[in-house]
Amino acid sequence: MFGFALMLRAAFIHIGLLMYLRVILVDVEGWTYGYSNTTMTWNDSRKWCQQNYTDIVMIHNENVTRFLEKLLPRRSSSYYWIGLKKNNGNWTWVSHRRIAEYQPWAADEPNNIKSNENCVEMYITESNNNGKWNDEGCEKNKLPVCHKAQCSNNPCTDREDCIEQVNNFTCVCKAGLSGPRCETAVSCEKLSKPSHGWMECSGLYGNHLLNSSCQFICAAGFKLSGTADLHCNSSGAWNAPPPTCAVACYPILLFGGGLMNCTESHDTYKSTCRVQCPPGHLLLGFVEFTCRSDGTWTSSFPLMCASEQFHF
Ligand SMILES: *[C@@H]1O[C@H](CO)[C@@H](O)[C@H](O)[C@H]1NC(C)=O
Ligand SMILES: *[C@@H]1O[C@H](CO)[C@@H](O)[C@H](O)[C@H]1NC(C)=O
Ligand SMILES: *[C@@H]1O[C@H](CO)[C@@H](O)[C@H](O)[C@H]1NC(C)=O
Ligand SMILES: *[C@@H]1O[C@H](CO)[C@@H](O)[C@H](O)[C@H]1NC(C)=O
Ligand SMILES: *[C@@H]1O[C@H](CO)[C@@H](O)[C@H](O)[C@H]1NC(C)=O
Ligand SMILES: *[C@@H]1O[C@H](CO)[C@@H](O)[C@H](O)[C@H]1NC(C)=O
Ligand SMILES: *[C@@H]1O[C@H](CO)[C@@H](O)[C@H](O)[C@H]1NC(C)=O
Repeated sequence: MFGFALMLRAAFIHIGLLMYLRVILVDVEGWTYGYSNTTMTWNDSRKWCQQNYTDIVMIHNENVTRFLEKLLPRRSSSYYWIGLKKNNGNWTWVSHRRIAEYQPWAADEPNNIKSNENCVEMYITESNNNGKWNDEGCEKNKLPVCHKAQCSNNPCTDREDCIEQVNNFTCVCKAGLSGPRCETAVSCEKLSKPSHGWMECSGLYGNHLLNSSCQFICAAGFKLSGTADLHCNSSGAWNAPPPTCAVACYPILLFGGGLMNCTESHDTYKSTCRVQCPPGHLLLGFVEFTCRSDGTWTSSFPLMCASEQFHF
């Protein structure tokens, strides 16, 4: 027991070390931030940012706030426009139009005191309000703060996703890949060919592995029941259960003008049909029947909708 615990501990240290090395190796520089020393309206600030960086800044957490507090020059009065605007009463990041979750307002803000305060400024000051926000009229002149996305340069490998961080980025393995070089693809359960049919599989990382697919075809006289094209997803599961090949049920004859309502594939294994006769008619036969795997229906035929006036 003790030995097992030690082994487990060693394994964790090993994984930890690999992850640490990985971060050091791939991290260079990420989101970068910039500002102008010239004041302008909120609209002009956004335009200026889009011309010189990627867009007007988004501040998603405390770490970005702390970073900007150090970056931005602090004058007697330093008011900076950030990329947040009021949209139907919700404070929304203009870059991706999502409502802000992190909202470090100054005390008693936002107060919309002049009833047109639809833009947001950040204070850079010696006071307690350093890094805090205030709602303001968008036509006021303030200093723009911008950011530039680094992941757009695609610094990661084709097996990795890039994640923007504060003045940094990291490369993380795409969903379904793992290992120090993301070389291990997640595996789905091995499938075998259905009886009375064929299966053909292929995939970038190998058969039955992440993003591979398998196609199913049934022999003549048999119909496929289920999904003909399966895909192995990043959680290691197929998108649907493997299909089966079963004898197709023969067509049903219905006399007397009734309505037959069958499940989508009307003649494959497990297909179910219901019969409805017109008003004033009686059904001679079963109301509901299902296609068996041997190609017969769970009912006797033919069916008939007979007029109630009809006497036997
Ligand atoms: C990026 O992050 C790593 C660790 O997370 C750090 O070692 C590195 O110095 C950072 N790079 C910059 C430019 O901040
Ligand atoms: C803005 O002005 C400060 C000094 O007032 C200077 O240190 C800084 O480099 C200037 N920044 C830009 C982006 O021009
Ligand atoms: C902020 O940075 C610290 C240290 O770098 C990190 O542990 C933490 O997860 C970061 N917080 C957010 C919200 O990104
Ligand atoms: C604004 O927020 C309210 C409630 O939080 C929500 O019902 C509404 O749909 C939001 N408006 C927009 C444009 O997202
Ligand atoms: C800012 O630009 C938007 C459209 O981009 C416009 O509807 C709005 O009137 C402008 N605001 C000001 C104050 O110029
Ligand atoms: C798997 O396929 C999806 C959808 O086609 C794609 O977005 C994703 O990048 C692929 N994953 C890998 C690791 O290739
Ligand atoms: C056929 O059956 C389905 C499921 O019971 C039902 O939703 C549908 O309305 C029926 N169609 C007709 C034409 O009766």
